[in-house]
Amino acid sequence: MTDKIQMRTPLVEIDGDEMTRIMWSMVKEKLLLPYVDLKTEYYDLALEHRDETDDQITIEAAEAIKKYGVGVKCATITPNAARVKEYNLKQQWKSPNGTIRAILDGTIFRKPIMVRNIKPAVSNWKKPIILGRHAYGDVYKNVEHRISGPGRAEMVFTPENGEEVKHTIHDFNGSGIIQSIHNLDASISSFAEACFAYALDQRVDLWFSVKDTISKTYDNNFREIFEQIYEEKYKGKFEEAGITYFYTLIDDAVARIIRSEGGMLWALKNYDGDVMSDMLASVFGSLAMMTSVLVSPHGYFEYESAHGTVQKHYQRYLKGEPTSTNPVALIFAWNGALRKRGELDGTPELVTFADKLEAAVIKTIEEGVMTGDLAKLAEPPAKQVVYTEEFIDEVTRRLEEVL
Ligand SMILES: NC(=O)c1ccc[n+]([C@@H]2O[C@H](COP(=O)([O-])OP(=O)(O)OC[C@H]3O[C@@H](n4cnc5c(N)ncnc54)[C@H](O)[C@@H]3O)[C@@H](O)[C@H]2O)c1
Repeated sequence: MTDKIQMRTPLVEIDGDEMTRIMWSMVKEKLLLPYVDLKTEYYDLALEHRDETDDQITIEAAEAIKKYGVGVKCATITPNAARVKEYNLKQQWKSPNGTIRAILDGTIFRKPIMVRNIKPAVSNWKKPIILGRHAYGDVYKNVEHRISGPGRAEMVFTPENGEEVKHTIHDFNGSGIIQSIHNLDASISSFAEACFAYALDQRVDLWFSVKDTISKTYDNNFREIFEQIYEEKYKGKFEEAGITYFYTLIDDAVARIIRSEGGMLWALKNYDGDVMSDMLASVFGSLAMMTSVLVSPHGYFEYESAHGTVQKHYQRYLKGEPTSTNPVALIFAWNGALRKRGELDGTPELVTFADKLEAAVIKTIEEGVMTGDLAKLAEPPAKQVVYTEEFIDEVTRRLEEVL
């Protein structure tokens, strides 16, 4: 290795909390800084700093991604009541991911990292299944009501200029429950755009599924928006890339996905995505092997690992104990960001570096060297169960062989 790889445009680097923050600096110091002349614009989203800045730092980080186009984020604490006390916070700040997602109007895609010696629980899944979850509305923004006794439940819409529209939901004879949900065409369109753009980026087929045979207005609206955007903007690009857009009913999709060999992007409504993403994570093995990327319809990308700050390991770290925390998804987040930066800037050396680093990580695990979480799943069993820093050193050794 001679000169360091140069970067043209800075990456937006968003630091975070606890054990992932510790791993973040290890990865930078050992796997990136020796090889890449890393240009980043740094935003520290450690909970203390979010509190000090009244969470302005989170907004600034999102705005920076708008400016530069690509960011990489470390896991951050979303404070609950216990964290407010632990960190003596001014208030219970919102989830940084939620704030950033709202500013970028993005969709989150999760993609598992597959290695030969961690077999998915569904044996015919040979390729990763990427999941895209619509993150607005439906049951997550519902209005619910407990009906105490007989009466009529109605749904009323009062237009700003126009006549009231009324539907009877049900004439109740006794007690029961009602729920109303909504969604927005603008949000569904953004979601659809992000899904088409990311399927193209990854060169995989896009599957979309709802239950429009039952929900003829609500779910059908999702289907129509997807179809319209596909026909108007993506059909030609998909044909050129040799990939397809496939719509099918959600129940049919579940049955087909289980029997498939994987390798598609599966776009789902909010609740379906919530349920299916946990199923996929569990089938593919470990949360520490799941990457996550926020894609905005305007072409901004933010990469991160899907797991949290691994608090329990951090508590051990603070006591001076070494931990076997898995840095793989975090390394892949950096790789994803560097590769995208390289693609956008026309710096193929950066893309090649990201590919080589990824290959070195996979090789390390496939040669039987892994952290404790993976050792529980490996088949054949791990040869060497290592602490985080040792794992990173093993990756460095394999990376050096190919640089
Ligand atoms: N994207 C994010 O920023 C994000 C996502 C989820 C949770 N969080 C935050 O993280 C904190 C901890 O949350 P949590 O405990 O529910 O989730 P977590 O992902 O940190 O941990 C969940 C479980 O998975 C294991 N695990 C996760 N990542 C691992 C890794 N890399 N190596 C080994 N084991 C790993 C942990 O030991 C733990 O048992 C919370 O404050 C939460 O707000 C942040």
